[in-house]
Amino acid sequence: MGSRRIAAIILAAGKGTRMNSARPKVLHTLAGIPMIGHVLAALNDIEVRESKVVISPEQLEVADYVAPYPAVIQDPPRGTGDAVLAAINEVSAEIDDVLVLFGDTPLLTSETMKRLLEARRDPSDPAAVVLGFYPDEPGEYGRLIINSNGDLTGIIEAKEASPEILTIGFCNAGIMAFDANRLQEILQEIGNDNSKGEYYLTDAISIAISKGWGCKAIEADNPLEVMGVNTRAELAIAEASMQDRLRSDAMRRGVTLIDPSSVWFSADTILGRDITVGPHVWFGPGVSIGNNVEIRPFCHIEGARIGEGAIIGPFARLRPGTNLGDGVHIGNYVEIKEAKLDSGVKVNHLSYIGDSVVGYDTNIGAGTITCNYNGFSKEKTEIGAQAFIGSNTAIVAPVKIGDRAIVGAGSTLTRDLPADALGLTRAKEIVREGWAADFRKRKSKTVPADKDQRDLD
Ligand code: UD1
Ligand code: MG
Repeated sequence: MGSRRIAAIILAAGKGTRMNSARPKVLHTLAGIPMIGHVLAALNDIEVRESKVVISPEQLEVADYVAPYPAVIQDPPRGTGDAVLAAINEVSAEIDDVLVLFGDTPLLTSETMKRLLEARRDPSDPAAVVLGFYPDEPGEYGRLIINSNGDLTGIIEAKEASPEILTIGFCNAGIMAFDANRLQEILQEIGNDNSKGEYYLTDAISIAISKGWGCKAIEADNPLEVMGVNTRAELAIAEASMQDRLRSDAMRRGVTLIDPSSVWFSADTILGRDITVGPHVWFGPGVSIGNNVEIRPFCHIEGARIGEGAIIGPFARLRPGTNLGDGVHIGNYVEIKEAKLDSGVKVNHLSYIGDSVVGYDTNIGAGTITCNYNGFSKEKTEIGAQAFIGSNTAIVAPVKIGDRAIVGAGSTLTRDLPADALGLTRAKEIVREGWAADFRKRKSKTVPADKDQRDLD
């Protein structure tokens, strides 16, 4: 933004009553990240000198989440105008422009923020520039009043609007850029003489006009980008829109999505190139995936790093702390948690590997369970490289299995196994020739009597 010094004020102190939630509205998540996190991430892409997040005294969790961005407490929250007033006192005197953002408008992009700030620098030097849009249903949005010159002369909140004003389709997205000095003066004059008894920031426009200062509105390219999330239904609409954006980004970066609409990303999912993702895959926060990975259908993945060329699923669950080396194969009904599997490890069927490290090229047979929890503490399993764990093995941690060791199928290991050793725990196998046939004969004699008895009942 050239040499201009910009401050951002992010409003997040509203009660969020319409969410009907114990959680502050702006901490409700979208693509795995709180709404306000998306606003701060977009803000990160523009040059801002200082940012202040306005929160209410009842919602101190928001301050914890936004740190190190400083929070300003608005006590009590009395409207958007009052919120900006609470923050403006904390903004340094050297600031030229103030960008006001809403914590409940999570789809806003940094490009749109830049457009707004550029419009503020227009030679006509408007006191305020407001972002407008045409929603499908203008409903409760404030209506923008534009005069015959195309200038903004006022904003009327839906609650205060006449039926005639409500027919206006051009609405306030809530995002505004102000000249810092004139904003100081305007804020002193905002009153609360309205149906909600709140200090509306939207009144800033008519106040500026009354002082002879011009204001402008610019239109958002995409109405969805500026939707405000006030209800759970709107949260779902915003989520769908965010997911479409993330899916398009992924495909642009060289990821094949066989059925894009059934793949759910987190905003922080890191994807390499030439990855293929099958239908019905969910990525929670903290996932990074290397090049040439194949994620087969129906996988649930969060907090996991996946090395190059790995094959995951179908039906795999990778939980936080999973770290898979290159070329690892994780098959169906396998759950991995807090475990590092070196390159070439295979866990192809029906297994649970938790709190473990596994050396390279080790093969873990079907139905292997690391018994990592004794009801009190989590214990660790260490398996060396090139080992072979037979099917249906229970490893009762803490246990260390050496390199190249072999564990016989069906074993329950409780002791360490040295490198190159065989570990086997198995009851003696009994073979009795003809026993099954004799058993059936014995039983079949008694069945008719039972059956007769049943018939009598
Ligand atoms: C607001 C606008 C409306 C606009 C809409 C866009 C006002 C008066 N109305 O209405 O014109 O069309 O957004 O989404 O500005 N907040 C505070 N302190 C408060 C009140 C609110 O920080 O005392 C914060 C909220 O946390 C929220 C934002 O300001 O992030 C907007 O508040 P909200 O109550 O959602 O306003 P809307 O009714 O949506
Ligand atoms: Mg809102």
